[in-house]
Amino acid sequence: IQPTAHCLQGLKVLISAGPTREPLDPVRYITNRSSGKMGYALANAALQAGADVTLVSGPVALTEPAHIELVKVETAAQMYEAVMSRAPDHAIYIGAAAVADYSPAIMEPEKIKKQKELTTIILHKTKDILADVAKLEKRLFTVGFAAETHDLEAYARDKLKRKKLDMIAANWVGRELGGFDSEQNALHVFWENGEKTLAMMDKTRLAEQLIGLIAERFKGYESL
Ligand code: C5P
Repeated sequence: IQPTAHCLQGLKVLISAGPTREPLDPVRYITNRSSGKMGYALANAALQAGADVTLVSGPVALTEPAHIELVKVETAAQMYEAVMSRAPDHAIYIGAAAVADYSPAIMEPEKIKKQKELTTIILHKTKDILADVAKLEKRLFTVGFAAETHDLEAYARDKLKRKKLDMIAANWVGRELGGFDSEQNALHVFWENGEKTLAMMDKTRLAEQLIGLIAERFKGYESL
């Protein structure tokens, strides 16, 4: 499944990457360990495959990719807006961002003071970007990611169905085996009637393989 130079020729591909930052006050936020490497590698691989790529990125320490439209965001709500406003114009959406599942209910306008021994933060659930892209009237070929610490296949297949995705790329996390904040990763990719394992390799090569697989499945999808 090596992608060819033209397997996504002329197609508009929208990719989300990196973590989000959910502010608590002007100096503090809640985030996660996502480096954005997988999403950026996918954006570059899609570009190499001939696609017209838009990358919506949370805060990362990576070089800005050339020949790709980069949209920088911070919060899950901003990422939601950036993706949803652009999605109808695209053929494929790859949700590689580690979007915060919860965000502080209020952002304190001033720095929170240290007073009590114990305090609480009220969190609200964020909107699911991936699920909402998959619900759009103008259907996009929608690809999600699932980072799991256990029962990988069961959770990935459940997400594929529940969020009505066309494909899901699952990986183990928390086993010091690649994944978040790492140069390498391995993926177990699932779709309705099939699956494929992509062995541990550099995220650049892994992204090329995943783009090859997406292009292959997308062709079948187009002729439905
Ligand atoms: O359900 P879970 O959060 O594990 O699903 C992960 C997938 O959902 C990723 O592709 C991620 O980008 C996407 N997601 C999203 N919006 C959220 C949470 C997750 O798009 N609020």
